[in-house]
Amino acid sequence: MTTLAQYLNDHTTNSALSDVITTITDVGKTISQLLRKGALADILGEAGNQNIQGEEQKKLDVLANDLLLDALAQNPHCAGVASEELDDAIPAHTDGSLLVLFDPLDGSSNIDINMAVGTIFSILPYQHQGQTSENSDFLQAGNQQLAAGYLLYGTSTMLALTIADNVVMFSLDPDSGDYVLVQNNVQIDADTSEYSINSSNYRYWRAPMQQYIDELIAGETGVRGRDFNTRWVAAMVGDVHRILCRGGLFTYPFDTKYANKAGKLRLMYEANPMSLLIERAGGDATDAVNRILDIAPTDIHQRVPVVLGSKNEVNYVKDLHLQHANK
Ligand code: F6P
Ligand code: MN
Repeated sequence: MTTLAQYLNDHTTNSALSDVITTITDVGKTISQLLRKGALADILGEAGNQNIQGEEQKKLDVLANDLLLDALAQNPHCAGVASEELDDAIPAHTDGSLLVLFDPLDGSSNIDINMAVGTIFSILPYQHQGQTSENSDFLQAGNQQLAAGYLLYGTSTMLALTIADNVVMFSLDPDSGDYVLVQNNVQIDADTSEYSINSSNYRYWRAPMQQYIDELIAGETGVRGRDFNTRWVAAMVGDVHRILCRGGLFTYPFDTKYANKAGKLRLMYEANPMSLLIERAGGDATDAVNRILDIAPTDIHQRVPVVLGSKNEVNYVKDLHLQHANK
């Protein structure tokens, strides 16, 4: 039985990184306990305010954010934090070597219905040790991430993590309070017949995405010649977890639903960490044209279209976009 502590000890010599991952995953234990209590812990419902993106915050969005902020503020290796729920990044320790980015509670619409939610995190190097960190320090491409992962609060609490060149999964043992390694070297099949998309946005998509979904729905009667199946958890953590477990394609594509937003998901808190996990598990992650991990960010809250998962299927979507662009 390998615990997270043992795994970190054996797989990285960067003790600051281990320490910060431990801080984040310890907070995950607290969030997990709160979720187990649900309404009894008075954590359900609206917080009564909006975040920087104009979205209504849930009580648990705010609570999870505060728990992570408080814990990371006490970690001397953390030079600053950026969160989906904060207007600006918050500087921490000037001597810290790491920047931490997170989506404290992914899939908020699932909180009140007792369905899967998660916490997504990304860790970047801090380049200006000795100085106070600023928003601009966080604007590094996803390929610079030193570690990324998520906590999935589902029927059990699981941690997916990448710190070296592979992806590993741990289950939180509620008895011992330890994260225990349950899967080493997660790999995604290149082919799949399962896809995830919120189809209610169909009329806002670009032509190649509409064509792609039309082809999947046509199944064996169409050009793909086989049937496909839809799954949509409404929490990216849940959909990505399923893909790491049994393959699939997940997309929140470019849409014109909201002006000035190139899709719904956030590059820094969602797309980058998930893309690192997916690529390291042998999958692919793109905005339909470019590799997500190579996008140079210009704003800590920027949004990006996301297509990720089984390699051959992601490439099929990319090819359709290329064909339309060349018409
Ligand atoms: O964080 C954004 C998010 O909740 C993702 O976790 C999820 O994939 C998506 O939005 C759900 O979007 P929608 O409500 O449009 O189905
Ligand atoms: Mn989210």
